[in-house]
Amino acid sequence: MKIRESKESDKSDIFNIHTLAFGKKEGPEIAELVADLFDDRTADPSLSLVAVEKNRLIGHILFTKATLSGHTDSVKIQLLAPLAIRPEFQKKGGGGRLIKEGLKRLKASGTQLVFVLGHPEYYPRSGFRPAGVLGFSAPYPIPDEHAAAWMVLELVPGMIGSVHGQVRCSDGLDHPRHWGE
Ligand SMILES: CC(C)(COP(=O)(O)OP(=O)(O)OC[C@H]1O[C@@H](n2cnc3c(N)ncnc32)[C@H](O)[C@@H]1OP(=O)(O)O)[C@@H](O)C(=O)NCCC(=O)NCCS
Repeated sequence: MKIRESKESDKSDIFNIHTLAFGKKEGPEIAELVADLFDDRTADPSLSLVAVEKNRLIGHILFTKATLSGHTDSVKIQLLAPLAIRPEFQKKGGGGRLIKEGLKRLKASGTQLVFVLGHPEYYPRSGFRPAGVLGFSAPYPIPDEHAAAWMVLELVPGMIGSVHGQVRCSDGLDHPRHWGE
């Protein structure tokens, strides 16, 4: 499996991967979110990576720019959303590889903190920790029963504990429907 940055010509495959991976109910909305984020200049800088197996796209991960209230220009933040692996290729390490490669590239380009709202049993495998108790609130309130799904990872040691505040996302993600989980 190879990982590379996505190209304009990958777009329809990427939308398809999200539609299939997230299923009939959520899939179309997630594909639409990705399309919006691709066109959203407030999401820049962003990082869009695809996983390729035998010339076929099997996974996609997107990171977009976020900011921290009170530290708008001084702390470099990215938000991981969304991540999907084509159903027949799941549980083969593809998701983990996409996260790892994404974090490596973000670190190299100076990102200090990465946030995600996602499966609380999955992302800690890649180093994410619950963000709320560490002083970071999400762009919209996360219901108490899902608090563990809001997570953070530091790419620069010492960031956690030295800054805190509310994370503000790009326009494309700035809607309560994206923060319900
Ligand atoms: C979640 C997803 C990206 C994981 O990618 P993947 O390539 O299947 O996962 P990996 O191969 O990296 O990791 C597999 C391991 O993670 C676990 N895992 C996968 N999805 C999980 C989930 N939703 N919750 C908890 N653990 C999960 C698997 O059980 C497996 O565990 P094992 O190693 O003990 O067998 C993929 O299953 C997917 O696209 N799901 C549908 C869309 C989605 O939910 N995206 C994430 C939104 S936050």
